[in-house]
Amino acid sequence: MLKRVKIKKKENNVKQQVSQTVKPINFSEQFEEYFIPSKLFHKVYIGDAEVVLKKKIENESIDTLFTSPPYYVARETEYWSSYDDYLEKMKRIFKEVYRVIKTGRVIGVNVADYAYEGKHYPLGADFTNILVNELKFNYLMTVIWRKPEGISSTFGQFAGNFIKWRNPLYFIPNQNFEYIILVRKGKSENIEGIENEKKKFKYKVSFIEKDLRPFLQAVWDVNPKSTNRYHPLEFPEKLVEVYLNLFSVPGDVVLDIFAGSGSTGAVCWKLHRSSVQIELRPEYIEIIKKRLNWGRRKTFSAFKVNIEYYEEIVEI
Ligand SMILES: C[S@@+](CC[C@H](N)C(=O)[O-])C[C@H]1O[C@@H](n2cnc3c(N)ncnc32)[C@H](O)[C@@H]1O
Repeated sequence: MLKRVKIKKKENNVKQQVSQTVKPINFSEQFEEYFIPSKLFHKVYIGDAEVVLKKKIENESIDTLFTSPPYYVARETEYWSSYDDYLEKMKRIFKEVYRVIKTGRVIGVNVADYAYEGKHYPLGADFTNILVNELKFNYLMTVIWRKPEGISSTFGQFAGNFIKWRNPLYFIPNQNFEYIILVRKGKSENIEGIENEKKKFKYKVSFIEKDLRPFLQAVWDVNPKSTNRYHPLEFPEKLVEVYLNLFSVPGDVVLDIFAGSGSTGAVCWKLHRSSVQIELRPEYIEIIKKRLNWGRRKTFSAFKVNIEYYEEIVEI
């Protein structure tokens, strides 16, 4: 059972300063052929993802999802009584994700295997099982997000005992990667309106060569240290950008059900996608909004785009 989380004002130590203003991309930098989306919106819901999805998000209203679920470790353990309980909750949430995603579209779920109190949990395998075998998404591929500079914290440093004793019986490799599980609802030929305007987007060869070439294979090198300014488990914006450039087009509606500090929304703003973000902890709402340039008009390539902004706190 999910417990209600009480946040005291005093505990709010989330960094609220946005240290860098992201510039929106110019369509002509990326695309040879494109059209300008007629409207964009950014919605932020504070509440439990399962409840918000059930109450607020309509069937087949979302084009793609990119998210990183909470870990069954550390402070997050306050929410679940066991690992099985945690997986059950994730299953209920992703059942709702299946309902709201448009048929034919892909979702990307970033998870990492982890160890807690001496036990190793194969979270990548367990999540894939839930998504594919239980919820019936179609499996596409798992991207390995490799961290070229290695891991910064003690998390994932498993080779210590081997180094200490220099004995192979102690060896467990250091974990310098995470998974991005890619699954599709239905088949790509079922995408509604595949013959419509979205099909008109065509990247420039120069953009693919410069920005996407290293990500056309299933091991993606992205340094986590480049960001991590607002949340302990923050996405590097580069990772979100690569995902969105490869699995969505401008004007799409992108969902992040575990928004944290709102990295997915910030990149949606930059790449002219609409966003729906859900986060349990209210202390993140201000930083999420700042990273979305809340309420400001957006001008780029001499176009003015009207953006609607919407926020709501949903009771658990
Ligand atoms: C791994 S972090 C996501 C960090 C995010 N990708 C970023 O760039 O900041 C997971 C987030 O999920 C939130 N969370 C945990 N359980 C949730 C639930 N049931 N519904 C919505 N959010 C939840 C946590 O508060 C945490 O901020």
